[in-house]
Amino acid sequence: MEFGTSYGISTFYLAAAVRDNGTGRVVTTELSTAKVAAARANLSEAGVAALVDVLPGDALQTLTTVDGPIGLVLLDGWKDLYLPVLQLLEPRLSAGALVIGDDSSFPTVQPYLDYVRDPANGYLSVPFPVEDGMEISCRIR
Ligand SMILES: C[S@@+](CC[C@H](N)C(=O)[O-])C[C@H]1O[C@@H](n2cnc3c(N)ncnc32)[C@H](O)[C@@H]1O
Repeated sequence: MEFGTSYGISTFYLAAAVRDNGTGRVVTTELSTAKVAAARANLSEAGVAALVDVLPGDALQTLTTVDGPIGLVLLDGWKDLYLPVLQLLEPRLSAGALVIGDDSSFPTVQPYLDYVRDPANGYLSVPFPVEDGMEISCRIR
């Protein structure tokens, strides 16, 4: 599950992992209609389009309909939406699911970090020191 497709670069890697695993699907969502079209074309050219559903529109709407269980979430859309998007997906996360929050050094990600780092919320969460920061959180219940 990916929040923020843009042109589909991160989506290539998720789709390649699904292809290598031999099971699973990638669902990704993007607000910009032009980017949705570009991402679909790029994924098709890369030969992985059959493994990916690109949902056009606002993640807070599009992700309400996605089936679980969800084993991995990449949060890379607008930073202030990380927490509401995670909470929307939470009932469908599998035990042990990994949630990756990109650009974790951005101040607008702080409410999300406070949430996943509080053990009462059911995650084991660690910062990963790359570029603008990345938070990797494991669902432990
Ligand atoms: C940083 S880019 C994503 C980059 C992409 N994950 C990659 O690594 O190739 C963020 C994208 O999130 C999209 N976005 C922002 N808010 C969104 C929302 N509420 N619903 C869906 N997409 C959104 C933006 O339009 C933008 O294209």
